[in-house]
Amino acid sequence: MKFGFFDDVRKEYVITTPKTPLPWINYLGSQDFFGLISNTGGGYCFYKDAKLLRLTRYRYNNCPMDLGGRYYYIKDGDTVWNPGWMPVKTELDSYECRHGLGYSVFTSSKNGLQAVLTAFVPVSDTCEIHRLKLTNQSDAPKNIDLFSFIEFCLWNAQDDMSNFQRNFSTGEVEVIGSTIYHKTEYRERRNHYAVYSVNKPIEGFDTIRDSFLGFYNSFDDPDVVREGKSKNSVAHGWQPIGSHHLKAELAPGKSEEFIFVLGYCENPRDQKFEAPNVINKKPANELLAKYQTSEQAQAALDELHAYWDKLLSTYNVNTADEKLNRLVNVWNQYQCMVTFNMSRSASFYESGLGRGMGFRDSCQDLLGFVHLIPERARERIIDIANTQFEDGSTYHQYQPLTKKGNADIGGGFNDDPLWLVACTYAYICETGDFSILDEPCAFDSDFSKAVPLMDHLRRSFNYTATHLGPHGLPLIGRADWNDCLNLNCFSEEPGESFQTFGPSEGPVAESVFIAGMFVKYGKQYAELCQAQGLEDETADVLGKVDQMIKVVEDAGWDGEWFVRAYDAFSNPIGSKVCEEGQIYIEPQGMCVMAGIGVEDGKAAKALKSVEEKLDSKFGIVLLQPAYTKYHVEIGEITSYPPGYKENAGIFCHNNPWIVCAETELGHGDRAFDVFRKTCPVYLEEISEVHRTEPYVYCQMVAGKDAPTFGEGKNSWLTGTAAWTFTAISQYILGIQPTLKGLGINPCIPSGWNGYTLDRVYRGVTYHITIDNAAGAQKGVACLTVDGVAVPGCVIPAEMVAGKQEVAVVVTMG
Ligand code: BGC
Repeated sequence: MKFGFFDDVRKEYVITTPKTPLPWINYLGSQDFFGLISNTGGGYCFYKDAKLLRLTRYRYNNCPMDLGGRYYYIKDGDTVWNPGWMPVKTELDSYECRHGLGYSVFTSSKNGLQAVLTAFVPVSDTCEIHRLKLTNQSDAPKNIDLFSFIEFCLWNAQDDMSNFQRNFSTGEVEVIGSTIYHKTEYRERRNHYAVYSVNKPIEGFDTIRDSFLGFYNSFDDPDVVREGKSKNSVAHGWQPIGSHHLKAELAPGKSEEFIFVLGYCENPRDQKFEAPNVINKKPANELLAKYQTSEQAQAALDELHAYWDKLLSTYNVNTADEKLNRLVNVWNQYQCMVTFNMSRSASFYESGLGRGMGFRDSCQDLLGFVHLIPERARERIIDIANTQFEDGSTYHQYQPLTKKGNADIGGGFNDDPLWLVACTYAYICETGDFSILDEPCAFDSDFSKAVPLMDHLRRSFNYTATHLGPHGLPLIGRADWNDCLNLNCFSEEPGESFQTFGPSEGPVAESVFIAGMFVKYGKQYAELCQAQGLEDETADVLGKVDQMIKVVEDAGWDGEWFVRAYDAFSNPIGSKVCEEGQIYIEPQGMCVMAGIGVEDGKAAKALKSVEEKLDSKFGIVLLQPAYTKYHVEIGEITSYPPGYKENAGIFCHNNPWIVCAETELGHGDRAFDVFRKTCPVYLEEISEVHRTEPYVYCQMVAGKDAPTFGEGKNSWLTGTAAWTFTAISQYILGIQPTLKGLGINPCIPSGWNGYTLDRVYRGVTYHITIDNAAGAQKGVACLTVDGVAVPGCVIPAEMVAGKQEVAVVVTMG
């Protein structure tokens, strides 16, 4: 069953009922100010950091699940309704929610009144704009009362949800004209406040939640709305809100538009006040002056559209499959931007209170983002490197506002360091900018110790090279990519966090997955060394990589597939000798991507085993057989019921590793088949089963052992976005940035005749035509650039130097 449709021309997903199986959400904001908005108007916004600078309150795990947001109450006679249906839930005569790139538009109607609510964050301002247009479509005049409503968060969202003995006494506001200023804690250490304003004179306002709602009411029946009159309440403590009361007298056919601005304002510390306890309103006045008219709001929206059009022109493919085109050209890249901005901090499944910018997560997110805005990728790589420790190990996350690492969700995950090599290499392949390697980067945010980024990469590589276990495989530490494989934890008490309890290290437990990473990213590091003229180091690195390949082919090989790990007693995990969890997906993908066993058939065998043992109609499950018992020596992975999360769920993040691996072996048909199964645009028709948004990937789909097989969970913030974009754009469609220039080496289903693609790369637009009349799955028979034949698959950057556009023709065969 579908709950909407894709509008490819406008690059929007159009939701046609408010009653989606889960909140189907969108993100507003490009750089510093962000909002989450659901298809019923739920959600919240924050400046830079979902935990530390949150403007509006949101209660997670609520009942109903999505409650609280930017609510506009329309009172038309005795009927009260909202453009997004929630929270009043009055049955609407029509409803539509269009989630577009950085904006959402709700169009609904009731009793001959139409409301169009457009919400977005301008490209370069720190605010949300809510543009609400009311049109009288009936043939009688209408007198409408309109009430706005948002609930302020007292900035620190964690404290806001827990420390009531303090924060029920701290709330403060000011109201001047049509503007409500939320200034809690501004009198003391904060130099920022929030502003909520509308561009018309108001009838009244409220800032005390209980006055607006009534003490025993929820959002669906506010006293003030029912009575049709604001109380002009001024908050002192408790729960400050912002609500305006406006009136619209609409003759038949007439419209009126209101522009609401919800913004973040900051003052220099020595200019906080204009009079004792009266905040300096200069930044608010400047902000609000920009959005007083419909023309101004429209210009900001047009700027947002232009911003996205330009970004998406970097990679644009035209295949015969329109679903694939919409995924690659729009939605997958859009999700890559969101994961880049949010890491794993704020979604409808990540509360923004727990996780910040994950070290490995953000490094991987860059793989899918670097082509969009390389300058921001550069800055991010440096931010991440600044949190690394001198021995090459890393924090597992840092807070976006402070950019300082913390151990709140544990540390000592031994895959983390190598991901820094992966993203830096991807950045240089995209841009050719080797100068990033000279950038001084701190250790643990101590800039007095800064050394060039290249030295950080060296320490990443060396950390792994010097932390080997009994078999010569890398020690796993707290865990590797799979956070839940906790081989040194041994937790027996409920409530202990698997990520923070127990020792993060152990001298025995090893990871074959990290070994695969060491080979893959070690080779990339060697390329960087070579490009820098470091011959001895190159040879040394490649020697260690070769040695690791031998170890994997020996201790890491189980006969039919790659072993997953060795536990703290040196017993294998992910081996046929195990009772449960005999085969895992991760080492099969990573080792084959690293090129291990490609020549002697081990790679092909491993991928065949994946197909036979792990595949399902909704994707490849993480392991089989699922753990049915809790294993103290294996940790969190065995704590999940079979088929969920890492315990044999379809963990979407690593399905694209198998896609990439299959293309290494030239299996275009199989690669695309794997790609397609978890791809949301192909699941749109079964949205009642899949449940999450059909325009973005989710972290996990319940596996074949689960009672709810096929049900998606944790949409939006997942490394799946970056890895699927890497898999489809580089490995299947074959456009591969390299250090030397743009590589083109497709691996596609034999039934595809070909496709065309535009790719902007290092300032040159490549118009690429792939001809597959031969029905090949892989292989470049001939490659020409502006008619000139190029040997191999890589177009040297020098060849196109000085050109703006080139025409590339690739004949497969
Ligand atoms: C984390 C990733 C991790 C994955 C698998 C996700 O929730 O963000 O860092 O690799 O789970 O455990």
